[in-house]
Amino acid sequence: MISPIRFEDGVLSLLDQRRLPLEETWISCRTVPDVVDAIRDMVVRGAPAIGVTAAYGMVLAAGAAAGQPADAFRERLEADAQLLEGARPTAVNLTWAVRRLLGVAGRALDDGLAPGEVARRLTDAANAMFEQDVEANRRIGRHGSLLVPDRARILTHCNAGALATAGYGTALGIVRAAVEEGKEITVVADETRPFLQGSRLTAWELDKDGIPVELITDSMAGALMARGEIDLVVVGADRIARNGDVANKIGTYSVAVLARRHGIPMYVAAPLSTIDAETPTGDDIPIEERDPQDVVELDGKAVAPEGVRARHIAFDVTPASLVTAIVTEEGVARAPFSASIGRMLGLEEEEPEPVDEAADELDEEELAALAGEDDEGPEPDTDGGARIREPATGEPDARAASAPDEQVAPAADDEADRTG
Ligand code: MRU
Repeated sequence: MISPIRFEDGVLSLLDQRRLPLEETWISCRTVPDVVDAIRDMVVRGAPAIGVTAAYGMVLAAGAAAGQPADAFRERLEADAQLLEGARPTAVNLTWAVRRLLGVAGRALDDGLAPGEVARRLTDAANAMFEQDVEANRRIGRHGSLLVPDRARILTHCNAGALATAGYGTALGIVRAAVEEGKEITVVADETRPFLQGSRLTAWELDKDGIPVELITDSMAGALMARGEIDLVVVGADRIARNGDVANKIGTYSVAVLARRHGIPMYVAAPLSTIDAETPTGDDIPIEERDPQDVVELDGKAVAPEGVRARHIAFDVTPASLVTAIVTEEGVARAPFSASIGRMLGLEEEEPEPVDEAADELDEEELAALAGEDDEGPEPDTDGGARIREPATGEPDARAASAPDEQVAPAADDEADRTG
Protein backbone atom coordinates (compact mmCIF):
# COMPACT_ATOMS: atom_id res chain seq x y z
CA MET A 1 0.00 0.00 0.00
CA ILE A 2 1.28 3.45 -0.89
CA SER A 3 1.61 5.65 2.18
CA PRO A 4 3.36 9.03 2.29
CA ILE A 5 4.07 8.84 6.04
CA ARG A 6 6.41 6.62 8.09
CA PHE A 7 7.35 6.87 11.74
CA GLU A 8 10.29 4.76 12.92
CA ASP A 9 12.76 5.11 15.80
CA GLY A 10 11.57 8.58 16.67
CA VAL A 11 11.95 9.94 13.14
CA LEU A 12 9.07 11.00 10.92
CA SER A 13 9.74 10.37 7.22
CA LEU A 14 7.58 12.01 4.58
CA LEU A 15 7.49 11.22 0.88
CA ASP A 16 8.37 14.56 -0.75
CA GLN A 17 5.28 15.17 -2.88
CA ARG A 18 6.80 18.29 -4.45
CA ARG A 19 9.21 16.03 -6.36
CA LEU A 20 6.73 13.46 -7.63
CA PRO A 21 6.43 12.00 -10.19
CA LEU A 22 10.08 12.56 -11.16
CA GLU A 23 11.72 11.46 -7.91
CA GLU A 24 10.65 9.37 -4.94
CA THR A 25 12.58 11.05 -2.15
CA TRP A 26 11.84 11.04 1.55
CA ILE A 27 12.38 13.91 4.00
CA SER A 28 13.19 13.26 7.65
CA CYS A 29 11.56 15.36 10.35
CA ARG A 30 13.09 15.28 13.83
CA THR A 31 11.64 18.45 15.36
CA VAL A 32 8.34 20.31 15.43
CA PRO A 33 9.67 23.13 13.17
CA ASP A 34 10.70 20.42 10.65
CA VAL A 35 7.10 19.16 10.63
CA VAL A 36 5.61 22.66 10.40
CA ASP A 37 7.86 23.44 7.41
CA ALA A 38 6.96 20.14 5.71
CA ILE A 39 3.24 20.84 6.02
CA ARG A 40 3.51 24.52 5.02
CA ASP A 41 5.77 23.79 2.04
CA MET A 42 3.56 20.87 0.90
CA VAL A 43 6.12 18.10 1.25
CA VAL A 44 3.03 16.39 2.65
CA ARG A 45 -0.45 17.56 1.68
CA GLY A 46 -4.05 16.40 1.65
CA ALA A 47 -6.25 16.92 4.69
CA PRO A 48 -6.00 13.50 6.39
CA ALA A 49 -2.26 13.20 5.63
CA ILE A 50 -1.46 16.53 7.22
CA GLY A 51 -3.58 15.56 10.23
CA VAL A 52 -1.66 12.32 10.79
CA THR A 53 1.64 14.14 10.14
CA ALA A 54 0.78 16.76 12.75
CA ALA A 55 -0.08 13.98 15.22
CA TYR A 56 3.47 12.67 14.80
CA GLY A 57 4.62 16.27 15.20
CA MET A 58 3.04 16.16 18.66
CA VAL A 59 4.94 12.92 19.33
CA LEU A 60 8.20 14.68 18.43
CA ALA A 61 7.21 17.60 20.68
CA ALA A 62 6.62 15.24 23.60
CA GLY A 63 9.89 13.38 22.98
CA ALA A 64 11.84 16.63 23.03
CA ALA A 65 10.21 17.83 26.27
CA ALA A 66 10.02 14.47 28.08
CA GLY A 67 12.91 15.34 30.42
CA GLN A 68 11.12 18.42 31.81
CA PRO A 69 8.84 18.67 34.85
CA ALA A 70 5.13 18.05 34.13
CA ASP A 71 4.10 21.74 34.05
CA ALA A 72 6.87 22.76 31.68
CA PHE A 73 6.15 19.67 29.56
CA ARG A 74 2.46 20.63 29.28
CA GLU A 75 3.32 24.23 28.36
CA ARG A 76 5.76 23.09 25.71
CA LEU A 77 3.19 20.74 24.18
CA GLU A 78 0.57 23.50 24.06
CA ALA A 79 3.01 25.89 22.37
CA ASP A 80 4.05 23.27 19.80
CA ALA A 81 0.39 22.40 19.18
CA GLN A 82 -0.20 26.03 18.21
CA LEU A 83 2.76 26.02 15.84
CA LEU A 84 1.47 22.86 14.15
CA GLU A 85 -2.10 24.11 13.88
CA GLY A 86 -0.88 27.30 12.24
CA ALA A 87 0.94 25.49 9.43
CA ARG A 88 -2.07 25.55 7.06
CA PRO A 89 -5.53 27.00 7.70
CA THR A 90 -8.18 25.22 5.62
CA ALA A 91 -7.94 21.47 6.32
CA VAL A 92 -9.66 20.92 9.65
CA ASN A 93 -7.99 17.52 10.08
CA LEU A 94 -4.85 19.37 11.18
CA THR A 95 -6.53 21.05 14.15
CA TRP A 96 -8.59 17.94 14.85
CA ALA A 97 -5.50 15.72 15.07
CA VAL A 98 -3.41 18.12 17.14
CA ARG A 99 -6.23 18.70 19.64
CA ARG A 100 -6.86 14.98 19.95
CA LEU A 101 -3.22 14.36 20.84
CA LEU A 102 -3.22 17.33 23.20
CA GLY A 103 -6.29 15.81 24.88
CA VAL A 104 -4.54 12.45 25.31
CA ALA A 105 -1.54 14.22 26.88
CA GLY A 106 -3.69 16.42 29.12
CA ARG A 107 -5.66 13.46 30.50
CA ALA A 108 -2.50 11.41 31.08
CA LEU A 109 -0.84 14.31 32.92
CA ASP A 110 -3.99 14.87 35.00
CA ASP A 111 -3.77 11.20 35.96
CA GLY A 112 -0.26 11.86 37.27
CA LEU A 113 1.73 10.09 34.56
CA ALA A 114 5.35 11.16 34.07
CA PRO A 115 6.18 13.04 30.83
CA GLY A 116 8.17 10.07 29.48
CA GLU A 117 5.12 7.82 29.84
CA VAL A 118 2.87 10.50 28.32
CA ALA A 119 5.21 10.65 25.31
CA ARG A 120 4.80 6.88 24.84
CA ARG A 121 1.01 7.26 25.00
CA LEU A 122 1.17 9.94 22.31
CA THR A 123 3.15 7.60 20.06
CA ASP A 124 0.46 4.95 20.51
CA ALA A 125 -2.27 7.52 19.82
CA ALA A 126 -0.57 8.76 16.61
CA ASN A 127 -0.03 5.18 15.40
CA ALA A 128 -3.70 4.44 16.10
CA MET A 129 -4.72 7.56 14.18
CA PHE A 130 -2.66 6.36 11.21
CA GLU A 131 -4.34 2.93 11.27
CA GLN A 132 -7.81 4.41 11.78
CA ASP A 133 -7.35 6.71 8.81
CA VAL A 134 -6.54 3.80 6.51
CA GLU A 135 -9.48 1.82 7.92
CA ALA A 136 -11.85 4.79 7.50
CA ASN A 137 -10.73 5.11 3.87
CA ARG A 138 -11.39 1.44 3.19
CA ARG A 139 -14.88 1.86 4.62
CA ILE A 140 -15.44 5.01 2.56
CA GLY A 141 -14.37 2.94 -0.42
CA ARG A 142 -16.86 0.18 0.33
CA HIS A 143 -19.77 2.61 0.84
CA GLY A 144 -18.82 4.70 -2.16
CA SER A 145 -18.30 1.86 -4.59
CA LEU A 146 -22.03 1.10 -4.33
CA LEU A 147 -22.56 4.39 -6.14
CA VAL A 148 -20.22 3.44 -8.98
CA PRO A 149 -21.53 1.43 -11.92
CA ASP A 150 -19.37 -0.92 -13.94
CA ARG A 151 -17.43 0.83 -16.72
CA ALA A 152 -17.82 4.21 -15.01
CA ARG A 153 -15.73 7.13 -16.14
CA ILE A 154 -14.99 9.05 -12.98
CA LEU A 155 -13.78 12.63 -12.95
CA THR A 156 -11.67 13.62 -9.97
CA HIS A 157 -9.98 16.88 -9.05
CA CYS A 158 -6.73 17.38 -7.13
CA ASN A 159 -5.41 14.31 -5.29
CA ALA A 160 -7.60 12.67 -2.68
CA GLY A 161 -5.71 9.43 -2.89
CA ALA A 162 -3.27 7.38 -0.88
CA LEU A 163 -0.83 10.29 -1.04
CA ALA A 164 -3.35 12.60 0.63
CA THR A 165 -4.04 10.21 3.53
CA ALA A 166 -2.23 7.63 5.64
CA GLY A 167 -3.05 5.24 2.76
CA TYR A 168 -5.73 4.03 0.29
CA GLY A 169 -7.34 7.46 -0.19
CA THR A 170 -10.84 8.89 0.07
CA ALA A 171 -12.04 9.74 -3.45
CA LEU A 172 -9.48 7.34 -4.89
CA GLY A 173 -10.40 4.89 -2.12
CA ILE A 174 -13.81 4.66 -3.79
CA VAL A 175 -12.07 4.04 -7.11
CA ARG A 176 -9.83 1.37 -5.55
CA ALA A 177 -12.77 -0.37 -3.89
CA ALA A 178 -14.75 -0.40 -7.16
CA VAL A 179 -11.73 -1.86 -8.98
CA GLU A 180 -11.24 -4.47 -6.22
CA GLU A 181 -14.87 -5.48 -6.77
CA GLY A 182 -14.03 -6.21 -10.39
CA LYS A 183 -15.48 -3.08 -11.97
CA GLU A 184 -13.84 -1.61 -15.02
CA ILE A 185 -13.13 1.99 -14.12
CA THR A 186 -11.45 4.85 -15.93
CA VAL A 187 -10.39 7.85 -13.89
CA VAL A 188 -10.29 11.20 -15.61
CA ALA A 189 -7.92 13.39 -13.62
CA ASP A 190 -8.01 17.18 -13.76
CA GLU A 191 -4.42 18.38 -13.76
CA THR A 192 -5.32 20.86 -10.98
CA ARG A 193 -3.53 24.12 -11.60
CA PRO A 194 -1.36 25.53 -10.19
CA PHE A 195 0.21 22.87 -7.94
CA LEU A 196 -0.70 20.05 -10.37
CA GLN A 197 -1.80 17.52 -7.79
CA GLY A 198 -3.87 15.80 -10.49
CA SER A 199 -1.13 15.32 -13.04
CA ARG A 200 1.78 14.83 -10.67
CA LEU A 201 0.13 12.82 -7.90
CA THR A 202 -3.22 11.29 -8.92
CA ALA A 203 -1.84 10.10 -12.25
CA TRP A 204 1.28 8.76 -10.49
CA GLU A 205 -0.46 6.74 -7.81
CA LEU A 206 -3.17 5.31 -10.10
CA ASP A 207 -0.59 4.39 -12.68
CA LYS A 208 1.46 2.67 -9.99
CA ASP A 209 -1.61 0.60 -9.06
CA GLY A 210 -2.44 -0.19 -12.69
CA ILE A 211 -5.75 1.73 -12.61
CA PRO A 212 -6.53 3.38 -15.97
CA VAL A 213 -6.23 7.15 -15.79
CA GLU A 214 -6.60 9.87 -18.39
CA LEU A 215 -5.18 13.28 -17.67
CA ILE A 216 -6.96 16.45 -18.79
CA THR A 217 -6.41 20.14 -18.22
CA ASP A 218 -8.93 21.63 -15.81
CA SER A 219 -10.63 23.49 -18.64
CA MET A 220 -11.48 20.26 -20.52
CA ALA A 221 -13.87 18.91 -17.89
CA GLY A 222 -16.95 20.74 -19.23
CA ALA A 223 -16.36 19.59 -22.80
CA LEU A 224 -16.04 15.96 -21.69
CA MET A 225 -19.24 16.22 -19.66
CA ALA A 226 -21.10 17.74 -22.60
CA ARG A 227 -19.95 14.82 -24.76
CA GLY A 228 -21.31 12.35 -22.21
CA GLU A 229 -17.85 11.08 -21.36
CA ILE A 230 -18.08 11.53 -17.58
CA ASP A 231 -20.48 9.43 -15.48
CA LEU A 232 -19.79 10.80 -12.05
CA VAL A 233 -17.50 13.10 -10.12
CA VAL A 234 -15.76 12.11 -6.89
CA VAL A 235 -13.59 14.56 -4.96
CA GLY A 236 -12.17 14.83 -1.44
CA ALA A 237 -12.63 17.64 1.06
CA ASP A 238 -10.51 19.78 3.34
CA ARG A 239 -13.36 20.86 5.56
CA ILE A 240 -17.07 20.19 5.48
CA ALA A 241 -19.22 22.73 7.31
CA ARG A 242 -22.14 21.71 9.53
CA ASN A 243 -24.58 22.50 6.70
CA GLY A 244 -22.71 20.35 4.15
CA ASP A 245 -20.84 23.10 2.30
CA VAL A 246 -17.52 21.65 1.16
CA ALA A 247 -14.12 23.35 1.01
CA ASN A 248 -11.77 21.56 -1.36
CA LYS A 249 -9.02 22.29 -3.84
CA ILE A 250 -9.55 25.36 -6.01
CA GLY A 251 -11.54 24.37 -9.07
CA THR A 252 -13.85 21.94 -7.26
CA TYR A 253 -16.67 24.50 -7.28
CA SER A 254 -16.37 24.92 -11.05
CA VAL A 255 -16.52 21.13 -11.48
CA ALA A 256 -19.64 21.01 -9.26
CA VAL A 257 -21.41 23.69 -11.31
CA LEU A 258 -20.54 21.83 -14.51
CA ALA A 259 -21.71 18.52 -13.05
CA ARG A 260 -25.07 20.07 -12.11
CA ARG A 261 -25.41 21.58 -15.57
CA HIS A 262 -24.92 18.15 -17.11
CA GLY A 263 -26.95 16.14 -14.60
CA ILE A 264 -23.90 14.25 -13.35
CA PRO A 265 -23.68 13.17 -9.68
CA MET A 266 -21.15 15.08 -7.60
CA TYR A 267 -19.87 12.96 -4.71
CA VAL A 268 -17.61 14.11 -1.91
CA ALA A 269 -15.59 11.48 -0.05
CA ALA A 270 -14.19 12.35 3.37
CA PRO A 271 -13.69 10.86 6.82
CA LEU A 272 -15.75 12.24 9.71
CA SER A 273 -12.58 14.02 10.90
CA THR A 274 -13.02 16.38 7.93
CA ILE A 275 -16.48 17.48 9.11
CA ASP A 276 -16.27 20.53 11.31
CA ALA A 277 -19.37 20.75 13.46
CA GLU A 278 -18.10 24.08 14.84
CA THR A 279 -18.18 25.74 11.41
CA PRO A 280 -21.80 26.49 10.50
CA THR A 281 -21.42 27.20 6.77
CA GLY A 282 -18.83 27.42 4.02
CA ASP A 283 -18.62 31.19 4.54
CA ASP A 284 -16.97 30.50 7.89
CA ILE A 285 -14.19 28.30 6.47
CA PRO A 286 -10.77 30.00 6.33
CA ILE A 287 -9.48 29.81 2.77
CA GLU A 288 -5.74 29.63 2.26
CA GLU A 289 -4.04 31.88 -0.27
CA ARG A 290 -0.58 30.78 -1.32
CA ASP A 291 2.31 32.38 -3.14
CA PRO A 292 1.18 33.85 -6.52
CA GLN A 293 4.59 32.83 -7.83
CA ASP A 294 3.08 29.34 -8.27
CA VAL A 295 0.73 30.87 -10.87
CA VAL A 296 3.21 32.92 -12.85
CA GLU A 297 5.87 30.21 -12.92
CA LEU A 298 5.85 26.57 -13.87
CA ASP A 299 8.77 24.54 -12.58
CA GLY A 300 10.74 27.74 -12.06
CA LYS A 301 10.10 29.02 -15.59
CA ALA A 302 8.03 32.14 -16.21
CA VAL A 303 4.64 31.56 -17.89
CA ALA A 304 3.46 35.15 -17.48
CA PRO A 305 4.96 38.60 -18.10
CA GLU A 306 7.38 39.63 -15.40
CA GLY A 307 5.76 41.67 -12.65
CA VAL A 308 2.16 40.80 -13.56
CA ARG A 309 -0.20 40.67 -10.57
CA ALA A 310 -1.55 37.20 -9.81
CA ARG A 311 -3.59 35.35 -7.19
CA HIS A 312 -3.20 31.85 -5.83
CA ILE A 313 -6.41 31.02 -4.00
CA ALA A 314 -5.80 27.46 -2.86
CA PHE A 315 -9.35 26.29 -2.04
CA ASP A 316 -12.96 27.06 -2.88
CA VAL A 317 -16.31 26.25 -1.32
CA THR A 318 -18.92 24.14 -3.08
CA PRO A 319 -22.35 24.86 -1.62
CA ALA A 320 -24.16 21.83 -0.22
CA SER A 321 -26.90 22.29 -2.81
CA LEU A 322 -24.46 21.22 -5.55
CA VAL A 323 -23.35 18.09 -3.67
CA THR A 324 -25.23 14.87 -4.46
CA ALA A 325 -23.90 12.98 -1.44
CA ILE A 326 -21.09 12.94 1.09
CA VAL A 327 -19.52 9.51 1.58
CA THR A 328 -17.90 8.93 4.96
CA GLU A 329 -16.80 5.81 6.83
CA GLU A 330 -20.27 5.79 8.41
CA GLY A 331 -22.16 5.70 5.12
CA VAL A 332 -23.66 8.02 2.54
CA ALA A 333 -25.14 11.34 3.67
CA ARG A 334 -27.61 13.11 1.43
CA ALA A 335 -29.55 16.35 1.67
CA PRO A 336 -30.67 17.82 3.92
CA PHE A 337 -27.08 17.59 5.12
CA SER A 338 -27.61 19.38 8.40
CA ALA A 339 -29.74 16.40 9.44
CA SER A 340 -27.74 13.58 7.82
CA ILE A 341 -24.39 14.99 9.01
CA GLY A 342 -25.87 15.44 12.49
CA ARG A 343 -26.86 11.78 12.56
CA MET A 344 -23.41 10.69 11.43
CA LEU A 345 -21.74 12.79 14.11
CA GLY A 346 -24.22 11.61 16.72
CA LEU A 347 -25.36 15.19 17.30
CA GLU A 348 -28.83 16.27 18.21
CA GLU A 349 -31.26 16.51 15.33
CA GLU A 350 -31.51 20.03 13.98
CA GLU A 351 -34.35 21.49 12.01
CA PRO A 352 -33.52 20.50 8.43
CA GLU A 353 -32.50 23.47 6.37
CA PRO A 354 -34.02 23.70 2.94
CA VAL A 355 -31.43 23.04 0.24
CA ASP A 356 -32.53 25.99 -1.72
CA GLU A 357 -31.91 28.90 -3.97
CA ALA A 358 -30.63 31.03 -1.12
CA ALA A 359 -27.68 28.68 -0.57
CA ASP A 360 -26.74 29.06 -4.20
CA GLU A 361 -27.52 32.75 -4.36
CA LEU A 362 -29.05 32.22 -7.78
CA ASP A 363 -32.38 33.74 -8.73
CA GLU A 364 -35.02 31.94 -10.79
CA GLU A 365 -33.67 33.29 -14.06
CA GLU A 366 -30.11 32.20 -13.32
CA LEU A 367 -31.30 28.78 -12.26
CA ALA A 368 -33.24 28.41 -15.50
CA ALA A 369 -30.15 29.47 -17.47
CA LEU A 370 -28.02 26.97 -15.57
CA ALA A 371 -30.57 24.29 -16.36
CA GLY A 372 -30.40 25.17 -20.05
CA GLU A 373 -34.09 26.00 -20.16
CA ASP A 374 -33.72 29.36 -21.83
CA ASP A 375 -30.92 28.81 -24.24
CA GLU A 376 -30.44 27.05 -27.49
CA GLY A 377 -27.36 25.23 -26.31
CA PRO A 378 -26.81 21.53 -26.87
CA GLU A 379 -28.88 19.11 -24.81
CA PRO A 380 -26.25 17.56 -22.57
CA ASP A 381 -27.86 14.28 -21.65
CA THR A 382 -28.79 12.62 -24.90
CA ASP A 383 -26.03 10.08 -25.24
CA GLY A 384 -28.18 7.28 -23.89
CA GLY A 385 -25.10 5.60 -22.47
CA ALA A 386 -24.44 4.37 -18.98
CA ARG A 387 -24.86 7.87 -17.59
CA ILE A 388 -26.14 8.05 -14.05
CA ARG A 389 -28.76 10.69 -13.52
CA GLU A 390 -28.38 12.77 -10.43
CA PRO A 391 -31.14 12.41 -7.85
CA ALA A 392 -32.76 15.60 -6.57
CA THR A 393 -30.49 17.01 -3.89
CA GLY A 394 -33.39 18.61 -2.05
CA GLU A 395 -34.99 15.28 -1.28
CA PRO A 396 -34.20 13.82 2.08
CA ASP A 397 -32.95 10.29 1.61
CA ALA A 398 -34.31 7.99 4.24
CA ARG A 399 -31.39 5.62 3.62
CA ALA A 400 -28.79 8.30 4.32
CA ALA A 401 -26.58 8.01 7.35
CA SER A 402 -28.94 5.93 9.42
CA ALA A 403 -28.71 2.82 7.25
CA PRO A 404 -25.54 3.09 5.21
CA ASP A 405 -25.55 -0.48 4.05
CA GLU A 406 -28.82 -0.12 2.25
CA GLN A 407 -27.73 2.53 -0.22
CA VAL A 408 -27.97 1.78 -3.87
CA ALA A 409 -26.58 3.49 -6.91
CA PRO A 410 -29.12 5.94 -8.32
CA ALA A 411 -31.25 4.40 -11.04
CA ALA A 412 -29.99 5.06 -14.52
CA ASP A 413 -33.18 6.79 -15.54
CA ASP A 414 -33.53 9.10 -12.55
CA GLU A 415 -34.38 12.60 -13.68
CA ALA A 416 -31.56 15.05 -13.13
CA ASP A 417 -32.24 17.82 -10.71
CA ARG A 418 -31.10 20.74 -12.71
CA THR A 419 -32.66 23.46 -10.73
CA GLY A 420 -30.95 22.89 -7.41
O1 MRU B 1 -3.42 21.80 -1.16
P1 MRU B 1 -3.63 20.33 -0.97
O2 MRU B 1 -2.93 19.49 -1.99
O3 MRU B 1 -3.32 19.91 0.45
O4 MRU B 1 -5.19 20.11 -1.18
C1 MRU B 1 -5.69 18.82 -1.05
C2 MRU B 1 -7.12 18.72 -1.39
O5 MRU B 1 -7.77 19.67 -1.71
C3 MRU B 1 -7.74 17.35 -1.23
O6 MRU B 1 -8.78 17.18 -2.14
C4 MRU B 1 -8.31 17.22 0.19
O7 MRU B 1 -7.35 17.56 1.14
C5 MRU B 1 -8.80 15.85 0.44
S1 MRU B 1 -7.49 14.68 0.57
C6 MRU B 1 -8.17 13.18 0.95
